[in-house]
Formats: sequence, C-alpha cells, structure tokens
Amino acid sequence: MLDTRSNRPDLPAEIARRRTFAIISHPDAGKTTLTEKFLLYGGAIQMAGQVRAKGEARRTRSDFMKMEQDRGISVSASAMSFDFGQFRFNLVDTPGHSDFSEDTYRTLTAVDAAVMVIDGAKGVESQTQKLFEVCRMRDLPILTFCNKMDRESRDTFEIIDEIQENLAIDVTPASWPIGMGRDFLGCYDLLRDRLELMDRADRNKVAESIAIEGLDDPRLAEHVPAAMLAQLREEIEMARELLPALDPQAVMDGTMTPIWFGSAINSFGVKELMDGIGSYGPEPQPQSASPRQIAPDETKVAGFVFKVQANMDPKHRDRVAFLRLASGHFRRGMKLTHVRTKKPMAVSNPVLFLASDRELAEEAWAGDIIGIPNHGQLRIGDTLTEGEALKVTGIPSFAPELLQGVRSGDPMKTKHLEKALMQFAEEGAAKVFKPMIGSGFIVGVVGALQFEVLASRIELEYGLPVRFEPSQFTSARWVTGPKTAVEKFADVNKGHIAYDNDGDVVYMTRLQWDIDRIERDYPELSLSATKEMM
Ligand code: G4P
Repeated sequence: MLDTRSNRPDLPAEIARRRTFAIISHPDAGKTTLTEKFLLYGGAIQMAGQVRAKGEARRTRSDFMKMEQDRGISVSASAMSFDFGQFRFNLVDTPGHSDFSEDTYRTLTAVDAAVMVIDGAKGVESQTQKLFEVCRMRDLPILTFCNKMDRESRDTFEIIDEIQENLAIDVTPASWPIGMGRDFLGCYDLLRDRLELMDRADRNKVAESIAIEGLDDPRLAEHVPAAMLAQLREEIEMARELLPALDPQAVMDGTMTPIWFGSAINSFGVKELMDGIGSYGPEPQPQSASPRQIAPDETKVAGFVFKVQANMDPKHRDRVAFLRLASGHFRRGMKLTHVRTKKPMAVSNPVLFLASDRELAEEAWAGDIIGIPNHGQLRIGDTLTEGEALKVTGIPSFAPELLQGVRSGDPMKTKHLEKALMQFAEEGAAKVFKPMIGSGFIVGVVGALQFEVLASRIELEYGLPVRFEPSQFTSARWVTGPKTAVEKFADVNKGHIAYDNDGDVVYMTRLQWDIDRIERDYPELSLSATKEMM
C-alpha cells in the first residue's frame, strides 16, 4: 500500500510536506515534457506548451546564447515551486548540456532526491549514467520514470535488468506496463492495486483509474483483453518472485529505486510518480556543515548558496544567489549573518520562483529555494545563518578539464577584462587563473561550449570583445600543504604556477607525469583536482 504519512512526524508540518528534487536524464528522454506535466498538475502553469518553448530554445547553440541573454527566463526555470496535494514541491533545474556538469553537481547538493527519466526504447544512456554517479556520491534517493511507453520500447524485465546492472542499484517496480507501443493500454499500479488506463484522445487528460482487488479481480478482464491479461499476470508473478519488494528505507538510502512506467506526453503515469515523490522522496534532510550538522527543524534559519546568476540586468550588474534553506522558518526582511565575511545582511527582497513568474517570498521553510538579489556579496558555497558561525560543506569546485588563454581585443581594457573574469569565476561559470609570470589570464572550463558562452557574455555584458587562444597547459591542480612549503614550491616552479580568484596556488601542466613526479618529490604537498568552495 502507498504510505502517504510523513516519515518524520516530529518535523513541523510545513517542513515535513516539502519535497525538493531535481530531474536527471539524457537529452531527449522527456525531462522538459515531464517538468511541464508536473507544473500543470501543480497548478503552476495553465497550459501545456509553456515550458516546452523554453526547452526547445535550449537545444541549439545560438538559441542557447540568446536564452542566456534573456536571463529572466533561465532564472525562473532554475527553481520552481508548486503544490501537489498536501505537498510543496521544489523542482530544481539541472542544466541540460553535459558541458555544465559542475553546475549540475552543485545543483544536486541542493536537493533531497532525484527523478531519473529514461527513454523506454533506449534504456540507460551516457548522460543519465554520469548524473546518476553524481547522485550516488551523495547517496541521493532516486525515483525512476521510464518514459515513452506509448512507443515501441524494450521488454520491461530487460529495462529493469539494465538499470540494476549498469547503475548497481536495486530496482523495484511501482507499476507494471500492459502492452507497449501501439498496444500500450496503461499500467497496473502495484503499490495501490489499481488499473490505470491511458487516454490517447486527450494528451492532457489524466488517466482513468480503476480500483482492483488484486490480479484475480474479474473487473480486470473488462478492461484488458484476455491474452494481454494472461501475460500481465504471468509477468507480475515473475516480477514479484525475482525483483525485490519496495523497501522505503532502501529508497531513502539510495540503494533501491522504484520505477514507474508511463508516457509524459500523454500525461500518463505522471500523477503516480508525483504521489511517489510525496511518499518516498524524502522531506528536507540534515545538511552537512562544519563544525556541526544542520537539522531542518532547528528553529534558527540557516542556508547556503549553490548557484549564482549574474547580470540579470546588464545595466545594474545585479545578481541572484540561489539559497537552499537548510533549517528554520525564514521571513522576509530577516537579518542574517553572512558567515564568510561575518557581516549582517538584511534579506528584504527574496524571490520565490513560481513556474512562469517570480514572486516576493514573504516566508520560506527548510527545503525551499529562494533567490536573493545582491551586488556580488554572495558567492557559491556561502552560508547564511542567524549568527552562528556554521559553514556548509560538500560543495566542491572541480579542476577544469580545458584551459585557454584569454586576451582582450583592446589592450587598454585589461582591468575591465579582469573584472569580468572575476565575476564569472565567482558565479562558478569558469575558473580564472592569473599566472605568476606574464600578464594574461588563463581560463579553465569543463566543456568547450563554455568558452563560447563566456566570450559572448563578456562582449554583451561588458562591451569587451575577447579572444580565447590555446594555452600551453592542459591540467590544473590546487597545491596545498604547509604555507612555507607551498611558497617554496611555487618559487621553484614559477613558470607553472598561477593563482585562482581566491588567491590559492594552482599548478598547471600538460603532463600527468609532472603531477605524479611532484607528488613523489614533495610528499608534504598535495595536488588536488577539487577544492571546497569557500
Ligand atoms: P528533454 O527535455 O529530456 O530533452 O526531452 P523533451 O521533453 O524535450 O522530449 C524530447 C522529445 O520526446 C520531444 O519530441 C517530446 O515530444 C517527446 N516525448 C516526450 N515524452 C514522450 C512520450 O511519452 N511519448 C512520446 N512518443 N514522445 C515523447 P520532439 O519531436 O523533439 O518535440 P515535439 O515536436 O514533440 O515537440
């Protein structure tokens, strides 16, 4: 039976009803379509088609740039809140392009669960696999939606096997498909013993749901042709024998994923999935921090910045920092402490993101995401509290995989360029290194498309044409160790040393061999491919 009680009756009801999650998928599996149906059932949009327009805009490169200019759109799509039954869902958007994986990683630090969408004909694809690994690092609970069942798809057991094998996670069916492709009738809901039939006539109509007393109920035969019914009974019997039963604790621990079958475009299976998120996607979880963990039901407010979006309005250079509330009940106008600088900060214009609009957030609870407009004080990884010196941990910065030199078309504008680059570094859009020798900058990213986006943004937002050019280096590593040892090392290796935007020492090279050698020759130093955001 579906359990709709909160797993934590001790939590304040407003916190216990929150579900903060992201959708992970390979491009084209149906993330945009599913998001749209979520918003439709959540009452956040009136019409199908509103999100779709944005999803399509994201696909082509030129449109992507255009959309980046139209910052408003990407901001409101970054976090969306809506109610579904007793629940408040906060859906956090993960950037679709694989070039933005670091951004994606940080987005996943702000959610308590992920919905993995796979295409029933294609199974687990490369991008799904990568994103899944990121979820696994954080033991995030994962709920799976196997989409496009209205098309020819793979055998149900085969899909489940593939997920189990490729992703090393137990899979338990929450529903079982009846037929496939043109013969797809709907699903048998294994959690509620109901028959759900798909309506092909109206794509936005929610499927008919028929209560059934188990698989022997004669009413099944009224809706499912005999041959299909025999197959359904046989398959479910086999599934019950061979596949693990739903274990909510294992789902919470991230070792088991329930799978729903459906067709997002036909609105089929979506409500069942949403019920599943309510029941098994956890309420706001404790947040790791130093020197102590933050529990969601603490009365005092604490939160951390996981994303910064700059230059919403190029004339004002304003930014929106996305804050995930880790604890407490936030009210507009509250004075919080910006822990990194120890300065007070009045949060008077927080925004809450409703699918098509931004609204002032009068209040928010642990689990919610609010946007805080600011002028650059807030950086990724920053913690805000009601005074306690807590620092949220686990928000890493990754060493870039591609390095290029950058030059301004106008040599008189080097200071401008530095300012622009620093801003992108703080926004998390790129790593910026200032070499110890020479006057230029080296910019590091994880995917080549980011160079183009950066060049276009620097030109648009700062009126500065720039050129990226090949660098002699291909890898960068943060150097840590005793201060004097780091300084001595930097002095001897000047030609390979740069400083990042926090002033930390970075070693650059094109040879893995160099990195291995340094690790051998300087045992007191460590060369690291990640660093915690300050
Ligand atoms: P994405 O965000 O994961 O990239 O996927 P998106 O939702 O954009 O869906 C990708 C394509 O798959 C779209 O088709 C969409 O209509 C289709 N699709 C989504 N869900 C289903 C489903 O349940 N069944 C079927 N048959 N198709 C589905 P498109 O041709 O790219 O766009 P459009 O012309 O349909 O708008």
